[in-house]
Amino acid sequence: MVFKKIQINKSDYANPINIENCAERKGHRRRCNMVLLGILLLVSCAFAALLAGALLLRRREAALQVRYRHLVAAKSLYYRSHPLPGGLSQVVSCYYDMPTPRRPGARQLLPADIHPNLCTHINVAFAQIKDKKIFLEGYQHQVISDVVKLKEINPNLKVLLSVGGAGNHGGFSEMVFNHTCRKTFIRSIKYTLKNLTLDGIDLDWEFPVVKYQNDFGNRERQHFSQLLREIRMEYNRERRDYLLTVAVAAPQIIVDAAYDVDQINLYVDFVNLMTYDFHTYTKFTPMTGLNSPLYPRASEQLYLATLNTNYTVEMYKTKGLDPFKIVVGIPTYGHTFTLVNRDNTKVGSPAVGFGTLGEQGFVNYPDICKFLNKFQNESTIKMDEDAKVPYFFKNSEWVSYDNPESVIEKAKYIRRNNLRGAMIYSLNADDYDGKCSGVEGTEKFPLAFSIKNTLRGM
Ligand SMILES: *[C@@H]1O[C@H](CO)[C@@H](O)[C@H](O)[C@H]1NC(C)=O
Ligand SMILES: *[C@@H]1O[C@H](CO)[C@@H](O)[C@H](O)[C@H]1NC(C)=O
Ligand SMILES: *[C@@H]1O[C@H](CO)[C@@H](O)[C@H](O)[C@H]1NC(C)=O
Ligand SMILES: *[C@@H]1O[C@H](CO)[C@@H](O)[C@H](O)[C@H]1NC(C)=O
Repeated sequence: MVFKKIQINKSDYANPINIENCAERKGHRRRCNMVLLGILLLVSCAFAALLAGALLLRRREAALQVRYRHLVAAKSLYYRSHPLPGGLSQVVSCYYDMPTPRRPGARQLLPADIHPNLCTHINVAFAQIKDKKIFLEGYQHQVISDVVKLKEINPNLKVLLSVGGAGNHGGFSEMVFNHTCRKTFIRSIKYTLKNLTLDGIDLDWEFPVVKYQNDFGNRERQHFSQLLREIRMEYNRERRDYLLTVAVAAPQIIVDAAYDVDQINLYVDFVNLMTYDFHTYTKFTPMTGLNSPLYPRASEQLYLATLNTNYTVEMYKTKGLDPFKIVVGIPTYGHTFTLVNRDNTKVGSPAVGFGTLGEQGFVNYPDICKFLNKFQNESTIKMDEDAKVPYFFKNSEWVSYDNPESVIEKAKYIRRNNLRGAMIYSLNADDYDGKCSGVEGTEKFPLAFSIKNTLRGM
């Protein structure tokens, strides 16, 4: 112990000799101070650099976080800046097909005929994509302006322009192809929204990937997500609360191929599920079926058991779509069939083609009403107890449709499952003139109002 102590003391005295030397010789003293100062400077420089770097990183990260929060919390931002009328939390998103001058003389739904308080959102349909830009015909500008005028009566109403629809697949394919092309499109969105004082854009691409299985096809799904992200970024950069919504397919076979649902969920305000056209007459499906069943029928198995609204909603949830962004499609039109055997009238019976009502297998609700009024005694109306939708038949005419009872059932389903709301396709196919009086009451838009009132708890 003692020995060790001595050793320590010795080393303690080894260095002070040098320090003493330094202090003694005046020429060296200055150099010593300089060296010390230099070391001090170096250390503080390094410290300052580190601090500055850390600050910069923090600022960049903060900026990134802000951007990220914008993206992820689009829904809550939207809600804070857009309280819905009367505390109504549910969306009633209505498609309105613009009238066309190509059908002179035909009664068509005009903007002024739309009840301004019926919908929370009106999607004016459809603008096309030409040369990577939104394309509207001359007269369509006036139609859109007239729809926007409804906001003078209901300032809470949002008017969106719907782009695409069935038959405009090519316009999308060409447009999403690369960043430059998408940029052209996004510029045209900004221009159109400003020019027509619209609240947002609704994209109806039917469908990414699906139609053309070409070399680029398999990238379309990724390009679609990129497009949505770039539109959202642009909205944020402009500090505008424009809306971005999409209309998407219902059958899983399309959804699996066409969408990255978790990506869509990040960038859109809400998603309009096209939960209809589950069954229509085709050469490959020559049998009667339900247009928009809420649930599967007890006899349906495997693939057939997936063709209903409840399955589609659950599938989208599983794939990462926030229930708060799910807006369930409800049709106001029906599908017609011609039976092979007029005594074989069940769902799934053999059919030889479209029915005679409506056009090309589609029939609007007022035409169904008028038919049922006229042929009350000869027609049979059935409610499918599993699927919760009606159908009727008379001789070899067989029609699947929705009535106030079935759309109310669907609106209740939306409330029960805490989904965002209902999409209605379309206002044009509802009884906007109130022609069904005698059967369904004298109200105009009986289906749309049944949906809206049920969502509001009335
Ligand atoms: C994007 O695609 C267009 C048309 O296909 C082409 O002209 C253009 O060069 C492409 N741009 C880039 C950056 O690849
Ligand atoms: C909208 O575009 C048209 C031409 O397409 C132009 O005449 C009009 O001034 C524009 N309006 C606004 C508000 O930008
Ligand atoms: C609706 O879908 C969910 C999830 O697939 C299922 O658990 C539920 O039983 C379905 N409801 C009906 C009535 O089929
Ligand atoms: C329908 O049947 C009822 C009695 O069942 C009859 O009073 C009425 O006149 C019939 N209507 C038509 C349009 O044939």
